[in-house]
Amino acid sequence: MAPQIRRVRSDEWPQVRAFRLAALLDEAAPIAFLETHDVAADRPDEFWQERAAGASAGETAAQLVAEVDEAWAGTATVLVTPAGTPDFHGRVTEHRRATVVGVYVDPRHRGSGVIDALLDAAADWTGTLGIAELALDVHADNARAQAAYRRAGFVPTGGSFVGRIGPEIDMVRSLRP
Ligand SMILES: CC(C)(COP(=O)(O)OP(=O)(O)OC[C@H]1O[C@@H](n2cnc3c(N)ncnc32)[C@H](O)[C@@H]1OP(=O)(O)O)[C@@H](O)C(=O)NCCC(=O)NCCS
Repeated sequence: MAPQIRRVRSDEWPQVRAFRLAALLDEAAPIAFLETHDVAADRPDEFWQERAAGASAGETAAQLVAEVDEAWAGTATVLVTPAGTPDFHGRVTEHRRATVVGVYVDPRHRGSGVIDALLDAAADWTGTLGIAELALDVHADNARAQAAYRRAGFVPTGGSFVGRIGPEIDMVRSLRP
C-alpha cells in the first residue's frame, strides 16, 4: 500500500516522542542520530510539545510523516537555517539552507518506497520556500542510508567533516526544474 505523506500535527507530540525513541533504539542509531535514547527519554513533555508545534507550521521546520494503514511508517524533518546562523552542527552558511534530518523508516516498511516518498515530500516543501537545493549529512559508514539518498537524487558534494558521531559526508538534491 502506498504511504500517505503529510506534515505532523502539533497534537501528535506523543507519537513524535514514541517514534523518535524507537528510532534511537535502531541498530543503526549510533551512525544515524546525534542524540542517544537515554538523553531523549529524559526530555520533558514540553520539549516534545514544542518540537511538534514547531515542525507542524511555519517555515523553520517541517516534520513529515508517512502513514501506512493509518500507522506511522517513517519520518523525515526539514530544518531551515537562515543565512549567517549556525546550524545544528555549528556550521554557518551564506545562504538560507534546508537540511533533511531525523530520517527513520520503521524496519517493517523498509525497502517499500516509504523513504522515497518522504524525501520527495521534503523536496516539495523546501521548493515552496524558494530554496534551490535540499542538503543532508550522512555518516560515512551508513551505506544503506547513502544508497537510499542516491536513489532519491542526492549526490555527494565532495564535502565531509567529522561531527559528534564521527565522519559524515555532505549530499545535496537540486530542486531546480
Ligand atoms: C536509512 C533508511 C531511512 C532507508 O530506508 P529503507 O527503506 O531502508 O531504504 P531502501 O531499502 O529503500 O534502500 C536502501 C538502499 O540501500 C541498499 N542497502 C541495503 N542494505 C545495505 C547495506 N548493508 N549496505 C549498503 N547498501 C545497502 C539497498 O539495496 C538500497 O539500494 P538500491 O535502491 O540501490 O538497491 C532506513 O534504513 C532507516 O530508517 N535506517 C535507520 C536510521 C537511519 O540510518 N537513518 C538515516 C540517517 S542519515
